[in-house]
Amino acid sequence: MSYALITGASKGIGKEIAICLAKRKYNLLLIARTEKLLKELAKELQDKYQVEVFYNAIDLSSADAAEDIIIWCNKGGYDISVLVNNAGYGLHGAFEKLSLDDQLNMMWLNMSTLVQFTHLTLPLLKRHSGKSHILNIASTAAYQAVPYLATYSATKSFVLSFSRALRHEMMGTNVSVTCLSPGGTDTNFMERAGMEGSRKIMKQAKKFNMLPDEVAEFGVKAMLHNKAEVIPGFGNKVGAYSSKILPKAIVEGIAKGIYSPE
Ligand SMILES: NC(=O)c1ccc[n+]([C@@H]2O[C@H](COP(=O)([O-])OP(=O)(O)OC[C@H]3O[C@@H](n4cnc5c(N)ncnc54)[C@H](OP(=O)(O)O)[C@@H]3O)[C@@H](O)[C@H]2O)c1
Repeated sequence: MSYALITGASKGIGKEIAICLAKRKYNLLLIARTEKLLKELAKELQDKYQVEVFYNAIDLSSADAAEDIIIWCNKGGYDISVLVNNAGYGLHGAFEKLSLDDQLNMMWLNMSTLVQFTHLTLPLLKRHSGKSHILNIASTAAYQAVPYLATYSATKSFVLSFSRALRHEMMGTNVSVTCLSPGGTDTNFMERAGMEGSRKIMKQAKKFNMLPDEVAEFGVKAMLHNKAEVIPGFGNKVGAYSSKILPKAIVEGIAKGIYSPE
């Protein structure tokens, strides 16, 4: 079986995507920063699903990281048929109060690293003898501007727009491109984004968050069925649809009410 290369595979949605693909007998190349978690997951999936799993612990927010990973893949001679661009994070707070360096770092990981991986992996995906897939992880925040998640939501609009355009460019080749846009999901995301201090947001999360395994299964199925753009969960779909039909000022005002710091 061929290999799936997954960024941000140590925890959360990326880890669950790795499990979904191992169940389907894909061999795995797992990438994230935390070596211990990657090592544990690799062993678990090898033992449970009898697939080959290799990992590489690296900070993908540095400019050369994606290239280093592709050199590592080429050395291993892996036949890659799936790329999952999942590594990413958010930063919650007033734009002018959040550190500029932190925001630029997030923008690099969420957008530039994803573009690098896609560009560098495409020749490998095309070389695969059967169907190949790219799964990019955006967010429901891609569908509207979100005050106090201003740069994060803009990075995810980029991911959605880029994925849709690339999908058209890849028509007539063996590569499909799918964009998965989750809403709130129970992972480490909120802690890393600095949202845990907000009672408003946490209350909302408790009511509506999905589980990462549900989101991952939904995304993997969509990818394997060559879907263009998918949103898991009825409430998330309604939210994204509303942002298309309601005046932008109303949608942005509602988001401001939810995300304004307390
Ligand atoms: N959870 C949500 O509510 C939600 C909603 C919409 C979209 N999303 C998107 O879903 C994707 C996955 O997020 P998640 O919710 O699963 O969050 P998570 O639990 O924090 O997982 C993020 C993954 O990315 C890796 N990562 C983060 N920074 C990295 C870096 N600099 N270099 C390499 N790997 C890095 C993390 O591993 P290490 O820490 O080990 O590096 C981890 O494996 C993200 O793109 C996020 O924007 C999440």
